[in-house]
Amino acid sequence: MFITFEGIDGSGKSTQARRLAEALRAEGRDVVLTREPGGSPGAEEIRRLLVEGDPERWSAETEILLFTAARRDHLEKTILPALHAGQIVISDRFADSTRVYQGAARGELRRLVDRLHDEMIGREPDLTFLIDMEPAEALERGLARNSGEDRFEDMGAGFQALLREGFLSLAAEYPARFRVIDGARSPEAVAAEVKRIAESALR
Ligand code: ADP
Ligand code: TYD
Repeated sequence: MFITFEGIDGSGKSTQARRLAEALRAEGRDVVLTREPGGSPGAEEIRRLLVEGDPERWSAETEILLFTAARRDHLEKTILPALHAGQIVISDRFADSTRVYQGAARGELRRLVDRLHDEMIGREPDLTFLIDMEPAEALERGLARNSGEDRFEDMGAGFQALLREGFLSLAAEYPARFRVIDGARSPEAVAAEVKRIAESALR
């Protein structure tokens, strides 16, 4: 089973991915927790090129190639071996982030994103949690971390609002695997709903 978390920056994806991994491990399940961009040594190197520096550093097209290169390495080295070994893979972001960040919010590049995905990745998650919330609140949470990885946060609140809309339309496009979760609640309340849905999918 391949589970992903998606949503705008600061919505609580990492927190929820970690909590779900811990909850499933506590029940004796074998879980690999990973993230994008990154999740394998090569992809983590590419990550630094993407999340640090000037917001204008790359065009949307170049970004699509870099994210897809990182994802291909992540898939080959981490995701597919784990799935073949029967482990549950939980990834903090995956291809839906490229569809929204590069494919919708920065120009009409969705077709290009989908073509590259079909050729180079060709795998969708079984279950995707969209942690949905108000961009202003999420941005405040995200920037408060002072991570030094704020290239996309630095594109501003208007950009985050476009991203939110993009994720919600994607959820409507793939209703079979998407679950939209209200992220503007306590981490415990969000985690309880996520766990309930994941367990019912695993059964
Ligand atoms: P993301 O991975 O979506 O960027 P994080 O899980 O890293 O989000 O959360 C961003 C920040 O907000 C972190 O400092 C985290 O501790 C905090 N946070 C996460 N979930 C919640 C929540 N439900 N309520 C308040 N703060 C939260
Ligand atoms: P992430 O570490 O998940 O950031 P955050 O914790 O702020 O949500 O991801 C880093 C940034 O990369 C994030 O701003 C979203 C962006 N991104 C894309 O633009 N396209 C992609 O395909 C992926 C996976 C991430």
